[in-house]
Amino acid sequence: MSTTSQFTERDVSEFFDQTTQTYLSFWDSEGVLHTGYFAGEDDIDYHAAADRTSDILADDAGIDATSNVLDVGCGCGNFLLRLAGRTGCRGEGLDLSIERIRFAEQRRAERGTGLDVSFRHGSATAMPYADGTFTHVVSQDALFLVPEKPRSHAEMFRVLAPGGVLAVSDFLQPTERIGEAARRHVYDRVRWNGGYSLDGYRRALSEAGFVDVVARSLDAHIRQTYRVLGRAARERAASTTDEAARTWIGNFADSCDEIQAAIDRGEFGWGMFVARKPA
Ligand SMILES: C[S@@+](CC[C@H](N)C(=O)[O-])C[C@H]1O[C@@H](n2cnc3c(N)ncnc32)[C@H](O)[C@@H]1O
Repeated sequence: MSTTSQFTERDVSEFFDQTTQTYLSFWDSEGVLHTGYFAGEDDIDYHAAADRTSDILADDAGIDATSNVLDVGCGCGNFLLRLAGRTGCRGEGLDLSIERIRFAEQRRAERGTGLDVSFRHGSATAMPYADGTFTHVVSQDALFLVPEKPRSHAEMFRVLAPGGVLAVSDFLQPTERIGEAARRHVYDRVRWNGGYSLDGYRRALSEAGFVDVVARSLDAHIRQTYRVLGRAARERAASTTDEAARTWIGNFADSCDEIQAAIDRGEFGWGMFVARKPA
């Protein structure tokens, strides 16, 4: 058994900058790159499941046309564009990867006409916003990557207005000691230092000042996500002519099998959290 490796924010940003185009090529060309909320093991519609995750988080958070929303680790911008399109809210997206922000900007220009949405390059640990700017802070599968999580929690708390709502989905490290296969295929693969169990996450949000913390464990959904993605990646690898890309996508498909095994061993999980900044 081993503990997880140490990565810096620079390691994380380099990884996401370097892999954005590859991810877009086999996962989703529209830039929807997060965990799906599936109806069950027979449900293999990734796009519907991924949209469902976004809609559940938005509904749990109570986002509407009056909301001013920050999406932390917004990636390619799909969640915020969907949110603004569905509810009429205004919003900002922040991400450490310049490549992903470029893609998000491009999507906004192509698809976001009339939406009050903008994207910025920056870190969750030093946000370029004044205290109390937002009514809601949301995030999908991004905060786990922050090496110093108390700093990003403090920043999310700071930029929320009193009474504001935090609603996130995130990767979980359910157990402290993880095996070599999980370290390689789950943690090191995406430059993840390691993180919280469900209870640890809840405690960390409370320690940051959040109240009314509601936590949901959703491991079956991330398992199904990697099952469906693994199949898609294997098919894509078979039809990819560029050798480097074929190898990378093939390795990802192999990792998808290992990721499911790690979930079954209790070494990896997924959860949703909704909390409030006191009024
Ligand atoms: C798994 S992707 C999810 C992206 C997006 N939320 C989505 O739903 O497609 C994780 C994202 O978190 C971003 N990220 C990692 N660390 C960050 C940090 N410290 N501040 C802001 N974004 C960060 C990465 O650049 C990447 O775009």
